[in-house]
Amino acid sequence: MPSSTFIRKAVFPVAGFGTRFLPATKAQPKEMLPVVDKPLIQYAVEEAYAAGIRDMIFVTGRNKRAIEDHYDTAYELESQLEASNKLALLNIARSVMPDDMTCSYVRQPRMLGLGHAVLCAEHLVGDEPFAVLLADDLMVGPPGGEPVLAQMTRAFATLQSSLLAVQEVPLDQVRRYGIVAGDPVDAGLTKVTRMVEKPKPEDAPSRLGVAGRYILTPAVFNHIRNQPTGAGGEIQLTDGIAALLKNESVYAYAYKGTRYDCGSKEGFLQATVELALAHPEVGSQFREYLKGLALG
Ligand code: UTP
Repeated sequence: MPSSTFIRKAVFPVAGFGTRFLPATKAQPKEMLPVVDKPLIQYAVEEAYAAGIRDMIFVTGRNKRAIEDHYDTAYELESQLEASNKLALLNIARSVMPDDMTCSYVRQPRMLGLGHAVLCAEHLVGDEPFAVLLADDLMVGPPGGEPVLAQMTRAFATLQSSLLAVQEVPLDQVRRYGIVAGDPVDAGLTKVTRMVEKPKPEDAPSRLGVAGRYILTPAVFNHIRNQPTGAGGEIQLTDGIAALLKNESVYAYAYKGTRYDCGSKEGFLQATVELALAHPEVGSQFREYLKGLALG
């Protein structure tokens, strides 16, 4: 398949400080916080892998060594599990890094914003379309259905244009999102004509909020590079995409599934409860435990 129709690379911007989770994130990356038994970053990497992507590119910063270690061989752990014949656990440890997956790392030396973080990966992405996944948005596909990024790579194969995952958000929450507006072209698909980062409710062009999954064409790099500093004094990915859509089609894709905003405490707790309830090992016991709580 020509590389233009197939997404081979995923960028994971993981350089943020995760200040909303202090003190937990003082010395460890937010992306390594576990939901039940798996760190956030692993959910996102598995989603990319399920979409056929094998080249994982992490944009890291200081204090992010744990992510590199997670995607490396843990020799001592593995030989200990092997020696004690704990093969199921050995399998879990090894399965984090499938043999056909490669990981690359690039540092974002200063926290200049999500757009800047994506730009730091330009030389590793090269001149081909790529995915961006924000690991603090934990996405769960519909029951028995395709994971969210796989839905998007499939749509990309037909559209050959940049795609943003979107969901309807309550009006009083639009200021937490990049908001898009445009012309509906198909069920769940909108051709984007406007994009604004974190608008006030009265300025929001719609209630379609961008979730942390993108498929972008490489032209976006030049647009990000040419952006002045945007909202919050940062180089915003939204501004780069808003410039891109003046030259190329960009679509908003209403994904099927559930998003947990694990960058916030409420979203993280919701993900923990719901994924624990669905967990094959602890789910039924946990359900009984919750039933027994005298919630007022
Ligand atoms: P957030 O603003 O949600 O994450 O950025 P944060 O800054 O880590 O968290 P808080 O707000 O302080 O709690 C969204 C994503 O973009 C990455 C973050 O790591 C996160 O995954 N990011 C953001 C970067 O990699 N570099 C940046 O300069 C900004």
